Amino acid sequence: MAITCHPIPKAPESEVDFGVEVRGLDLENLSDTDFQSLRTILYTHQVVVIKNQKRLSPSAQFSLTRRFDPSAGVYSHGTKISNRSVLHRDLTTIPSQPQVQVIGHGHIPSYEGLTDLHLQHPHHRTFHKDPIPADQDHDFTHFYRWHIDSAMYDLDPPLVTSLLAIKTPPKRHQTLLYDDNTSTTLRVPLGTTAFFSGSRLFSLLTPSEQTFILTSKVEYAPHPYIWMSEAKSRSNGLGLLSENLELPLTSLPPIDPSKIKVYPMAWKNPVTGTLAMMVYPTCVRKIHLADGTVMDDLREIREMLYKFQRRAIDPQFVYPHDWEEGDLVLFNNHGVMHSIVGSFAEGEVRLFRQSSSRLLSQGSRVESSRV
Ligand SMILES: [Fe+2]
Repeated sequence: MAITCHPIPKAPESEVDFGVEVRGLDLENLSDTDFQSLRTILYTHQVVVIKNQKRLSPSAQFSLTRRFDPSAGVYSHGTKISNRSVLHRDLTTIPSQPQVQVIGHGHIPSYEGLTDLHLQHPHHRTFHKDPIPADQDHDFTHFYRWHIDSAMYDLDPPLVTSLLAIKTPPKRHQTLLYDDNTSTTLRVPLGTTAFFSGSRLFSLLTPSEQTFILTSKVEYAPHPYIWMSEAKSRSNGLGLLSENLELPLTSLPPIDPSKIKVYPMAWKNPVTGTLAMMVYPTCVRKIHLADGTVMDDLREIREMLYKFQRRAIDPQFVYPHDWEEGDLVLFNNHGVMHSIVGSFAEGEVRLFRQSSSRLLSQGSRVESSRV
């Protein structure tokens, strides 16, 4: 069967320039030729939707994800999440394929060797300073946290992530409030995954901002998800408020300085050569400037990054995927940033599988952005 690309549904006002539906792939038995076509499509369109994959095996999902990065072996957050990490509650591993995680919401009696699962969709009330009031929670929501899938300590960000919708609740919509001193809203399908493009963001920067991005590097906190565990997010999910709530480094698990990640702020697409601003604001601790000085005032760093990044989450630049059962979404984790969205009511059950993988690294393999 020939591989074909088709537009994905977008709102009339959308200016989103990424995303495509791909048909004609047999993911359980993917030939090298078809994989290479898929890889080119993925890096050209950043987000790929493949429908009707409900029966895809966990091993095939992992194999597919791994083929984008053959050296990858473990789940992108490693094999064990500390119970002090803000990620601890969100992740459950499939016994037969530990590189694939089960995520979702509600009670699942049994699935792939797991029994009596009580899944909890991450809710912004656990993370935001000013969550939606409980009595409005059914109809209104926030972006939870804009991020790159990554541990940002020891492990490098996986190249590609796959998300597969096994079970979704009946459709409804919520109104997403930005609550960022603007009246901006976005109508979103319940439980959407929202994406914005790092290359669109880069193109929205002024020439001097672009120069700054291309000549500076960003340093992430050690054990960032523990470090940030007491801090609270802005209501639009784009970084933390600066309230000095980050844990002191002395109270974190032992820190190996060689595992601290320092990355370029713009990453190059390996197929198109396009530059994307890819900075995970919640985990940032320092910025290394071209002249060798290091910014380490968190408030100053966050205000600057926020000014850069806020423009990219304006509604016309955000793609909120409307999940249907069987949807497999692959995305370029070095080219788009994404956010969990939504608040499920009791009885709205959802089951997803996620796979993203990355070798335990020695040093960064992120493409340098220097041009
Ligand atoms: Fe993610």
